[in-house]
Amino acid sequence: MHDLFADPAPGQRTALGPQACVLHGFALAEADALLAGIAGVAAQAPFRHLVTPGGHTMQVAMTNCGRYGWCSDRRGYRYDRLDPQSGAPWPAIPPVFLRLAADAAREAGFAGYVPDACLVNRYAPGTRLSLHQDRDEDDRVAPIVSVSLGLPATFLFGGFARGDKTVRVALVHGDVVVWGGADRLRFHGVLPVKPGHHPVVGGQRLNLTFRKVR
Ligand code: SIN
Ligand code: FE2
Repeated sequence: MHDLFADPAPGQRTALGPQACVLHGFALAEADALLAGIAGVAAQAPFRHLVTPGGHTMQVAMTNCGRYGWCSDRRGYRYDRLDPQSGAPWPAIPPVFLRLAADAAREAGFAGYVPDACLVNRYAPGTRLSLHQDRDEDDRVAPIVSVSLGLPATFLFGGFARGDKTVRVALVHGDVVVWGGADRLRFHGVLPVKPGHHPVVGGQRLNLTFRKVR
């Protein structure tokens, strides 16, 4: 009933809320440049599996670029200016990332978007991301811009309480989801990624999540 699997064409848009939508295929033209950017970031700040405050190792491998990087360890979740693994500042957000994020945000109704953090998520087959809110940022109004690359995934988009019903959204290579303003604190997550092979990205899913932290 509430599952959004209609296989929309690039250029179409699916509303998920008053200030939340999927921009289908919005990143397709820049996908190769985004993948090259991810490789450059990962060469400086390698993907790693963070540990949650509860002591669990996260399934999703992560790295960051930008002024702030999202980190988790036994002490909690936070944004850090430095990569705790190297002690060096996170790599800068590549200009093509910033352009794409601002263009997608504008398309979704958020003009003048300048993110200061970009979390890069890597999902191997079988990897999931459990339902959560993005609430470690000081700015709870500026949108989250989330770019999908590689293997398809089912994105869950819920309400403001963990138990609220969720819609399932099929996300494919090049799709961008934007949620901000009144929808900024909606719960979301990703179901286990099914094994497969993407012609460019191979057997994995990559995701860029832009945020304005401060
Ligand atoms: C996230 O919530 O950080 C990532 C969402 C996604 O991988 O699509
Ligand atoms: Fe998130």
